[in-house]
Amino acid sequence: MRDLLITGAALADGTTGDLGVRDGVFVPAADVTDAEQIDADGLLALPGLVDSHTHLREPGREDAETIATGTLAAARGGYTAVHAMANLDPVTDSAEAAEYLKALAGRTASAEVIVVGSVTKGLAGEELSEMGLMNRSAAGVRMFSDDGKCVMDSLVMRRALTYAKTFDGVIAQHAQDTRLAGTGACCHESEISGRLGLPGWPALAESVIIARDVELAQLAGGRLHVCHVSTAEGVEVIRWAKARGVNVTAEVTPHHLYLATREVESYDTTFKVNPPLRTDEHIEAVREALADGTIDMVGTDHAPHARQDKDHPFDIALPGMLGLEQSLAVVLEVMINTGRLDWPTLVERMSYAPARLSRTATQGRPIAVGEPANLVLVDPSARAVVDRDASASKSRNNPYHGRDLPDPVLATVWAGRLTYRR
Ligand code: NCD
Ligand code: ZN
Repeated sequence: MRDLLITGAALADGTTGDLGVRDGVFVPAADVTDAEQIDADGLLALPGLVDSHTHLREPGREDAETIATGTLAAARGGYTAVHAMANLDPVTDSAEAAEYLKALAGRTASAEVIVVGSVTKGLAGEELSEMGLMNRSAAGVRMFSDDGKCVMDSLVMRRALTYAKTFDGVIAQHAQDTRLAGTGACCHESEISGRLGLPGWPALAESVIIARDVELAQLAGGRLHVCHVSTAEGVEVIRWAKARGVNVTAEVTPHHLYLATREVESYDTTFKVNPPLRTDEHIEAVREALADGTIDMVGTDHAPHARQDKDHPFDIALPGMLGLEQSLAVVLEVMINTGRLDWPTLVERMSYAPARLSRTATQGRPIAVGEPANLVLVDPSARAVVDRDASASKSRNNPYHGRDLPDPVLATVWAGRLTYRR
């Protein structure tokens, strides 16, 4: 691997200098020899982004995404690590499945793949999966989630939190009470869903589960992470729980920060997602929560789907949308360009916090001599119209297609290797 010399980049704190990279770590610029040079004058260098929530689809649905294409999309979005959700086929519910995924990633990935194990066997919500064995396996799993499905059984959830605590594991919950919506719920319950005749999810289907889970986390003394918080009520419960010292973290997706439920008026199934896009009051609440730290991090919930799974009536199409390639662009647009967030806090929300979630030591570290060489070079002022066909992802369910957004990522370095350069 060739040395890298990155000249003139500014760090998030405003300091400027040259960066050397050798053997996967940052070294003094004067130490590199025969280096590939990158002129980063006028650019920002941020620590590599870490996604707390990615669906890679391999194994099982390689027609929608593979580890190779999903992590390439990650690299193009400035990410150097992704947490690979367990709703695969086979489900990541055993040490063997976790090790298989890690080995596959070792051969094909353009970013670190952090394996997430399921909470229950087969995501069935009944019997705990082999959490301890997955933790002690070569995959070193420390995060567990049935994401895509909510762990509805309170006793199962209590046991999961109690058990994971013994090895500092975290339970990441897809908080959505399936009993509070009729079958076929496919968007946010509001005036719009009523008018369109689409069954909706009420906002409180999310907050009642978060309320139950923070109580269980306190009882068990375990770590809880709330996936894709999308409602003002959910934010309020998390704020209350944090004030009481509950060990809880939360994420928000780029799409819940930016897109509203009015998009479903087109019946375009690209905009069908779980939890659903909400109204402006909810969008304002999650933006505020990301700014004040009630929501700790951004998780993309990158959810590629093949065309044949989206080309259906709205209530039948599979839920989920892409996120990795435009995540930084969206956060830049709605949080930085509006003055709600500064760059050091963005680094905390998009790199440091998600790495801490799974205790991943190789990620979420500052750009400094001796640290792992993970970084993204950013031009904060570049803009472009998003083209879904220019994506590295195998799928085309990109909700930002045709929109004018920041286009910030110029290069990504993962473990000393250039994984993307425009
Ligand atoms: C996700 C998927 O497709 O795997 N879908 C979605 O709508 N978000 C599952 C999930 O994150 O809940
Ligand atoms: Zn989910």
